[in-house]
Amino acid sequence: TEREAQLKKALLAYEKKWIAFSVFTVLLFAAIIAFTLANHGLRGVIPVGQLERVDPTKVRSEGPWADPAKAVVQTGPNQYTVYVLAFSYGYQPNPIVVPKGAEIIFKATSPDVIHGFHIEGTNVNVEVLPGEVTTVRYTFQKAGEYRIICNQYCGVGHHLMFGKIVVEE
Ligand code: CUA
Repeated sequence: TEREAQLKKALLAYEKKWIAFSVFTVLLFAAIIAFTLANHGLRGVIPVGQLERVDPTKVRSEGPWADPAKAVVQTGPNQYTVYVLAFSYGYQPNPIVVPKGAEIIFKATSPDVIHGFHIEGTNVNVEVLPGEVTTVRYTFQKAGEYRIICNQYCGVGHHLMFGKIVVEE
């Protein structure tokens, strides 16, 4: 009938409004997310530019971790970068020899499993993950020997995993 047709039409128009509204809502949310990402990136989630990756199967054969004799690199007038390999079960180079009073940037990675890098008597205490580079800075104010301890359980030799830093005058 005429009346039924009119009702159907009205209902259809009503449904269309709701569909349009939901599409608008979805687009609005997408726009908000896009705007947030564009303005803030993933800062706070992953520090942008600080996540350094490396192939754990190649660190022993190529790149700055391969040769322990070249692991300590002077990178400034009073700054050194030390490429530390934490492996099952030890640290390379061993010992790490650095001068007193210089800023030491440790760049540590692992060719196998997760290890710890804790320098006894300092606040340096970080995790070392295969495939990632952990960067930590420290300036030794006192000459002497410092022990490196792994405090991340890494296997049967975990309790025997130590390294040594010699800080020279
Ligand atoms: Cu390496 Cu525990």
